[in-house]
Amino acid sequence: MRFFIKSYGCQMNSYDSQRMSDMLAGVGYELVPSPEDANVVVLNTCSIRDKADEKVFSDLGRLKSIKDKSSEDFLIVVAGCMAQLRSQDIIKRAPYVDIILGPQNIQQIAAIVDDFIKNKALDTVVSTSMDANSKFNQLFGKFSNRSVSEFLTIQEGCDNFCTYCVVPYTRGREFSRSVADIINETKNLISLGVREITLLGQNVNSYNGEDLGGKSCNLSGLLFRLADIDGLKRLRYTTSNPKDVDCSIAEAHRDIDILMPSLHLPVQSGSDAILRKMNRKYTQGEYLRCIDMLRSYRPDIAFSSDFIVGFPGETDEDFEETLELVKKVNYAQAYSFKYSPRPGTAAAKMNDQISDDVKSERLQILQDLLNDQQSQFNENFIGRCLKVLFVKNGKHENQLVGRSEYSHAVSVSADNVSIGDIASVRITSVASHSLIGTIER
Ligand code: SAH
Ligand code: SF4
Ligand code: F3S
Repeated sequence: MRFFIKSYGCQMNSYDSQRMSDMLAGVGYELVPSPEDANVVVLNTCSIRDKADEKVFSDLGRLKSIKDKSSEDFLIVVAGCMAQLRSQDIIKRAPYVDIILGPQNIQQIAAIVDDFIKNKALDTVVSTSMDANSKFNQLFGKFSNRSVSEFLTIQEGCDNFCTYCVVPYTRGREFSRSVADIINETKNLISLGVREITLLGQNVNSYNGEDLGGKSCNLSGLLFRLADIDGLKRLRYTTSNPKDVDCSIAEAHRDIDILMPSLHLPVQSGSDAILRKMNRKYTQGEYLRCIDMLRSYRPDIAFSSDFIVGFPGETDEDFEETLELVKKVNYAQAYSFKYSPRPGTAAAKMNDQISDDVKSERLQILQDLLNDQQSQFNENFIGRCLKVLFVKNGKHENQLVGRSEYSHAVSVSADNVSIGDIASVRITSVASHSLIGTIER
């Protein structure tokens, strides 16, 4: 039997897709590169904005025509956040979907697929319970084929209920994996050649897992423990909610060599009134103090962020405050989105929704500013050296692509370096999505 997986949305979904892939490979399935070649197609979905949902429905339409033509078993599995949130809509709009799995139920994939085929089931099987503990207890499979840089989920769910966001409804309450579990997985990854690990959670700064001695451990404690593991060359973590960033994490950035000097610290808006309506629990002033604090411990730290424009009630003045904040921080990189009302969230019911035209206009202005900052950040490195971890071959012959400390993609000609090495690279030019350089001897 052959399977194909497509992952939408965030890095937590990429991690879950890799787990499902491991589990199917563990029972003898072979991963294939296109849905046409598969017997089981898994769409691991995202529901963060309306566009993400619509993309899944259009992909499902395409899968239906493959299924109709197929003479073999052809199962369609919809997993992930949209599966959790909209299982009934999926059954209504795409009744040919065979299996629906919420994000805390993906560990059941191999068993459910197997049952479905054996019993020649006709009705859609829906599994959407919310028990992250049992997910991590049962995640197993064939642990192979890892790249040099991998994700590791340390925390599931979110308790913050920002008023625009579906994640607390799709991934459930916050749950932190134990330190022992995370150390174990890290060692496994290193034994497969992984050199860089990005710890994942929707709110990693509130990580609160059981430590080796049975007490609780925060994110900084976890980073110090992982940094002691032989063979691990780089550590990153994401995503941080500014309200939970404290001195202990700044100390980790000061004291841990392998912790990269970059931090994704989504602010969403610069206006205190909008931040309050979003339920973000910090003000612009507090956010800026947090940035200053981190810079005082680790002067070379670079920040990235997420922004939402056109949140209900956002005035021109509110938007202006966002632009002012961006100018004060100077970001290395950022994502920005038009506010998208999501079913079941508090903000979707607010009565001062903003028109799409205004959202588009604000998004353009914000993105122009953020792009300028990003270009300036990148151009500053021309003539300077960055430490690059090489992760894959480039498009051209004898070319390697790696990641800088700041997550830039960096291309070099591959003389005397191999995948998995870290080398000092002098940057010679900046391309649209990457830096180009030469290895320093
Ligand atoms: N846990 C992270 C964010 C996860 S979602 C945090 O708290 O920062 C990733 C990003 O999607 C968010 O930072 C936000 O900018 C954006 N987003 C979430 N819900 C959205 C919505 N309803 N409309 C538009 N953007 C949204
Ligand atoms: Fe969503 Fe807010 Fe939780 Fe982030 S912190 S996942 S934006 S509810
Ligand atoms: Fe999307 Fe779920 Fe991630 S809604 S952004 S896949 S947590």
